[in-house]
Amino acid sequence: MVTAAAPIAFEKPTPKSRVREAAPFVKWVGGKGKLVSQLLPLMPGGVEKRRHVEPFVGGGALFFAMRPRRAVLSDVNERLVTTYLAIRDELPTVIRHLEALDRAHSDATYYEVRDRYNTASRVSSAERAAMFVYLNKTCFNGLHRVNRRGHFNVPLGRYENPRIVDHEGLAAASRALRGAEIRHASFEELLAYAKPGDFVYFDPPYAPVSATANFTSYAAGDFGDADQVRLRDVYRELDRRGCRLMLSNSDVPRIRELYRDYRIEIVAAPRAINCDARKRGPVTEVVVLNYDPGR
Ligand SMILES: C[S@@+](CC[C@H](N)C(=O)[O-])C[C@H]1O[C@@H](n2cnc3c(N)ncnc32)[C@H](O)[C@@H]1O
Repeated sequence: MVTAAAPIAFEKPTPKSRVREAAPFVKWVGGKGKLVSQLLPLMPGGVEKRRHVEPFVGGGALFFAMRPRRAVLSDVNERLVTTYLAIRDELPTVIRHLEALDRAHSDATYYEVRDRYNTASRVSSAERAAMFVYLNKTCFNGLHRVNRRGHFNVPLGRYENPRIVDHEGLAAASRALRGAEIRHASFEELLAYAKPGDFVYFDPPYAPVSATANFTSYAAGDFGDADQVRLRDVYRELDRRGCRLMLSNSDVPRIRELYRDYRIEIVAAPRAINCDARKRGPVTEVVVLNYDPGR
């Protein structure tokens, strides 16, 4: 349980170092790029000395903004995780493949690459990572949606001149990942390795804001209420263990109820989730903390 707010003493990285030095190398649904500036003032005291753990890393916006020295990054999306590993460990080869894809890029190439990505079995990890980044940069809205057979099925997006190879950005991401342990795992595995004092940022697929809202690529059914409850139980267990915990989710009664024993902060997230542009406005989200910011 937490009590009154404490003064915040967190030095933000300069915008320059945050954007150019390391930033997500993929567009990711639910990415926190636009929210980072509201999350940084909510960090616990001494965060720069703590191990940084993200069990739902996705595009890793918070990780890249903070560039912690020690980190554990994990996600259930295996293709995403193997891409992180290749960008950390074999970047020059990934870049060579990506440059070739960039030179060949056309509507037809997109669908050929998508087909090869889904069906070819003898592809090196570096080439697979390059295909992952290429498809992410050129597909519709950077979605990562798969069909029942696990095949990526997002159509080509409409970009005049997509930036497929960002040499500096990839190099910066690779450097930032050097001190990170990268895992393919579901969030429950945290129970096996989280230690007292770790800073853990949970950014799960959000609880739906209405019965019809479905703005994630991982459909609401993939991460339903039972998962939200299991996640809350993991949160509780890590709270008992002495970890510092931050969790993002939608601002809905069910989430407030699940985390009623903890401190709940509100942040405004600009989101284009409504097809009707007039109804796109700031949406509030909750940030659940088990500590007072700055403490
Ligand atoms: C909201 S996104 C995270 C966005 C990320 N913070 C960013 O800035 O890009 C949620 C992530 O959770 C992952 N995920 C879904 N179910 C999971 C599970 N059971 N365990 C771990 N990760 C999961 C998805 O693959 C997705 O990358």
